[in-house]
Amino acid sequence: MVKYKGVTVWFTGLSGSGKSTIADSLKEKLKSMGIKRVERIDGDVLRKTLCKDLGFTKEDRNTNIERVIFIAKLLTRNDVIVLTSFISPYRKLRNIGKKEIKNFIEVYVKCPLEECIKRDPKGLYKKALNNEIQNFTGISDPYEEPKNPDLILYTDKETVDESVQKVLNIIIEKGYIEI
Ligand code: ADX
Repeated sequence: MVKYKGVTVWFTGLSGSGKSTIADSLKEKLKSMGIKRVERIDGDVLRKTLCKDLGFTKEDRNTNIERVIFIAKLLTRNDVIVLTSFISPYRKLRNIGKKEIKNFIEVYVKCPLEECIKRDPKGLYKKALNNEIQNFTGISDPYEEPKNPDLILYTDKETVDESVQKVLNIIIEKGYIEI
């Protein structure tokens, strides 16, 4: 049996950088290793439910992230492996997460803006570039890069499997999963 502790793996990066894809795949991987207590918390899902009252101003994004930190903290202290995927563009809020959640791994999902624009899985970059939507991260709204993340994934160069393996390795290295 695999032994594990609660930890929040916090994926941050631009829309379309690959946060959700990697978190989904990592969840499957963890389940296949016999790890039962894994939860995904995803921006697109939360914004249709718990955070459907919020938009994309700095204030609303910060409220969004405050709520995520609250949930992730409760789950983490109950020995759940929590995978969060939010743009979380502001360093200050990510740092609050780091402080509040006892076991926390910050993963910067790094993908050049041009590549995200090329991928544009939801057609939102096109709209943002045409000024049809405002405050779009990377186009008309800031993204503050992590200064000292625990891990960087280069999703324009690595395969999903390679990125997932890197995250799994750091969870093990830090002692949250014992193999
Ligand atoms: S965050 O900034 O508050 O962390 P969050 O991760 O919850 O953002 O939501 C981002 C998702 O909302 C994007 O992947 C995209 O699908 C959608 N979205 C809609 N409008 C915007 C916008 N103006 N800026 C960024 N993402 C947007």
